[in-house]
Amino acid sequence: MAPLLSRPGLVSFAGGVPSAATFPVDAIARIASKLIRDDGPRVLQYGTTRGNRDLAALVVDRLRARGVAWAAPENLMLTSGSQQGLDLLARVLVDPGDIVFCELPSYIGGLSSLWAAGAELVGVRLTERGPDVEELERKVAEARTAGRTARVVYTIPTFQNPSGISADVAARESLYELAERLDLILIEDDPYSEVYFDPTEPPPPPIASLDRSGRVVYLGSLSKVLCPGLRAAWTVASPEISRYLELAKEGADLCSSTLDHAIAAEAVKEGLVDDRLPSIRRFYAERCSTMLDALQREAMPGCSWTRPTGGLFVWVNLPDGIDARLMLDAAVDAGVAYVPGAPFFVDGTGANTLRLAFSKEEPDAIDCGITTLFGVLAS
Ligand SMILES: Cc1ncc(COP(=O)(O)O)c(C=O)c1O
Repeated sequence: MAPLLSRPGLVSFAGGVPSAATFPVDAIARIASKLIRDDGPRVLQYGTTRGNRDLAALVVDRLRARGVAWAAPENLMLTSGSQQGLDLLARVLVDPGDIVFCELPSYIGGLSSLWAAGAELVGVRLTERGPDVEELERKVAEARTAGRTARVVYTIPTFQNPSGISADVAARESLYELAERLDLILIEDDPYSEVYFDPTEPPPPPIASLDRSGRVVYLGSLSKVLCPGLRAAWTVASPEISRYLELAKEGADLCSSTLDHAIAAEAVKEGLVDDRLPSIRRFYAERCSTMLDALQREAMPGCSWTRPTGGLFVWVNLPDGIDARLMLDAAVDAGVAYVPGAPFFVDGTGANTLRLAFSKEEPDAIDCGITTLFGVLAS
């Protein structure tokens, strides 16, 4: 879609990226130049594969504060974005031909990593309250009865990309309980959980906070709360999985950018995440509520959409029979872009769905863009 999206004046609900207006550019420039001047030989050298110890310790504190009591420097590895964590996990946990379960819909980057490792992806319906755990149980049983290896589940329980849905406490507990009962490994991908809109209503604690037996592998990232250009993210896993992840990372890139992660550590230490989170939350809350109001006004009968309480995305179900892929060119010609939903479904469904990111555009542009979009979709 890249050539389409470069058209000048286009209102884009397509790119799933944080707004550059939330990046603390001047502070990062100051930190970077001070680090290079004062500590150049260290921050321009290779680092260890596990990564910057200061940043790891800061991340461990944050995870413990969110209930992941077992997080510790020994089981944490810093990665070049959580996308790298997903890629390494797929290499470590999946053999070609294994069945891996994912949500319908799910994050395409995660699915790509799993496919690249040779996984056969089997989807499980995502309800408004989280993944359908009974369906997952049935599908695991079917796969195992057929003699297949089926042990890994990929889930994004908080403000999911692409749907904006968050699993409630009950869904998290039943997913974890099923994982215990059926000996499953849960990959919990969690880059959005600090971006919640109502300061009094944080999302439920991560599934990793329930883990007693090393079966949740947790991925977090600074991309949405600091900036993605520093590629600062982490995996937290059992000591055994962490050891294999470290070997896989060594083979992939030896170490993440020493400079990026040193900057990220200073930024977190200085409060550039914590002090700015309230304004980042307000920033996205306003954009989301503008989009929801506009949808309420403009969407034709038969449409439904999610009402996220955090994250960057609203997910729209169009009336049956409208294929969002076939409407994209007309929408772009009219000046608005979105991502058709079908590629987020591993089972070939979802033709009448689309993802709208409210992160990039100003509220006025969001309002006009939704009017234009539904003008096109209704025609
Ligand atoms: C669900 C999910 N996981 C992982 C990533 C990758 O994030 P990063 O590699 O920037 O940490 C993204 C990026 O949008 C995402 O939406």
